Amino acid sequence: MSSSDDALVWHVGELGVDMHIDPFVFCANGMDIQHLEALHGVQFDPADLVDDRNFLYEKYRAQIKLRNEFRGELMETVWSTWGTSFFTLEGEIDGRWFAIIDGLALPAPGLTQAFIVGLAERTDDAEADARQALKAFEWERSVLLEDIEVLADLHFRPGPVTRSDTHVARFYEYLRKYPRAHPSRDFIN
Ligand SMILES: [Fe+2]
Repeated sequence: MSSSDDALVWHVGELGVDMHIDPFVFCANGMDIQHLEALHGVQFDPADLVDDRNFLYEKYRAQIKLRNEFRGELMETVWSTWGTSFFTLEGEIDGRWFAIIDGLALPAPGLTQAFIVGLAERTDDAEADARQALKAFEWERSVLLEDIEVLADLHFRPGPVTRSDTHVARFYEYLRKYPRAHPSRDFIN
């Protein structure tokens, strides 16, 4: 489904693969620098990874801002999780700004569904804008599909992970402080 408003054009669709995990695992995975390097082949400047200015943990948002090389492109990317419901990322593809939003639903205990929004800035070329929004959607879907075998049945153990990865450990600290309502408490493992 594609649509637009004054400033943005977007394309919305489903990931289309059920993940047998809680949404927080999806979010923690997104903040896991080691998996970005090992699984997705993202390259970072090691100096950036130990610079705290690139990592921001606020009450409602955990954000990482890093230069990286991914699929042959140099990118400046900002990505965030908002509680355990939304993952957002913005950067550039082919010199044009794009963003994605992953909206996470928990339709049954231990089952996460992801909806993906691909966003582009509106110009006076509606067809090019629609293509860019679709490209953003497909970019994120292709990245998530690289994760799917790991994510689909991941049995996450915060203990060992937090000892080996400072950034994931900080994400868990953020999560523990996040003010959560519990309308879905029966669904949370
Ligand atoms: Fe991933």
